Amino acid sequence: MHDTLLLFGATGDLSQRYLFPSLVHLWRDRLLPASLRIVAVGRQEHSDEEFRAWLRERMAAEVADDPGIVEELLARIAYVSVDLRDEAAIAAALSAYADRPSVSYLATPPDLFVPCAKGLKAAGLLEGESRLVLEKPIGRDLASARGINAALRACLDESRIFRIDHYLGKAAVQNLLALRFGNTLLEAVWQHRWIESVDIFVGETAGVDGREGYYAGYGALRDMVQNHMLQLLALIAMEPPAALDADSIRDEKRKVLRTLRPVTAADAAERTVRGRYGAGVVEGRAVKGFVHESPVETFVAVETFIDNWRWAGVPFRLVTGKRLAERATEVVVSFRPTSHWLFERPRRGRERPNRLRMRLQPDETIELGLMGSLAAPEWGALELKPMSLDLSMSASPQRRIAYERLIVDALRGNQTLFVRDDEVEAAWQWIDSIENAWSETAQPALDYPAGSWGPAEAERFLPPTNGGTHSNRTGGGQA
Ligand code: BG6
Repeated sequence: MHDTLLLFGATGDLSQRYLFPSLVHLWRDRLLPASLRIVAVGRQEHSDEEFRAWLRERMAAEVADDPGIVEELLARIAYVSVDLRDEAAIAAALSAYADRPSVSYLATPPDLFVPCAKGLKAAGLLEGESRLVLEKPIGRDLASARGINAALRACLDESRIFRIDHYLGKAAVQNLLALRFGNTLLEAVWQHRWIESVDIFVGETAGVDGREGYYAGYGALRDMVQNHMLQLLALIAMEPPAALDADSIRDEKRKVLRTLRPVTAADAAERTVRGRYGAGVVEGRAVKGFVHESPVETFVAVETFIDNWRWAGVPFRLVTGKRLAERATEVVVSFRPTSHWLFERPRRGRERPNRLRMRLQPDETIELGLMGSLAAPEWGALELKPMSLDLSMSASPQRRIAYERLIVDALRGNQTLFVRDDEVEAAWQWIDSIENAWSETAQPALDYPAGSWGPAEAERFLPPTNGGTHSNRTGGGQA
């Protein structure tokens, strides 16, 4: 396990909210090497002591019962201030750390990836066994992603590049793989003959708050669908890999991404909805709308198809939005009706299809919707009713931040949960088809009130509920 971590963007939002808390937890649990050293790199001027004081204040709540943990970690952190656009300055400031293999983590905007990588290369920090970790987004479209990937390849080999998609670090996402590939029952039905549709839904109650600058250049399609949602789709739809090693899995994911049916100007209006939240009420609190001159969307719904043998004709609906009624990430697999219907009640067509509902956030649950009988004598004829089989695992002893797992894997050199260059490019290719179709047809972002389920036009894209409508789903704070 490498013991030197250089963290670029150390005073940024991601570092404060997730990366340092993850490091604190990992240190507490003795999952990091005893010889760990962290070099925090940022633009702001700080001495080591000032940076530690700043971080101490922010990390105090992470291990409130044992403040000594934070102190131990802080003692291992040095702070280096440097202009992240200046390759020569980066090289000069960091070359002293090239004495042993390291992991450099770029928690920075994508326009800084190439200068930072070049500076690290010049400092000798990408040689031998050293590794580079990059946050999403890798570029803004296929052309810029290709440019970044090519520039990175000139600095180090793909086998040492770790592109983060933090959804892959979530335990519930790994459970999805376990469920799919560990169960004969699912193996047998996991294809178009038995599956009617797949819904992938990521609803957030949070708004864009504080990230307007970044978000205005990206929007929901590039911020969420290009990465997290397409990774979920790829794991659900890929062929079983021959082994669980990084490249076997990534080969299969890439194949799925490359068979996604592009959206065209002719079908964009039918297959997609864009939305943008206005003022409303979320979780009982009045919130403002997203106001910005950029026309980006904060909500997107897309119906797509995977044009291969396994998934022919099965719609995959992807929906995500900010400031929705409920925070929930779920995957719903709806099965086809049985071949022949024997029952009077409910009548054919009114039965509830079998569904596998995997909820990944905020709680982790797995439910299988079946039909059973109302077996009381007064009912006379056999009548069916929907039943739900709860397949949830017992609560895991400790929930971890997704980044904890990914940081350990990067220090160990395990690429399985990281995204390869060709996957990123295949995902951008499909996203570009949508962006192009939207701009050709000038598809507007439709207003929706914060605290709702998105624009009314997107209702048909929303995942099926357990019988009710979206407006009476649990937790829905309507505007
Ligand atoms: C990030 C996006 O990648 O994922 C954010 O940039 C989004 O806009 C976040 O809020 C969602 O992550 P999670 O883990 O809270 O579902």
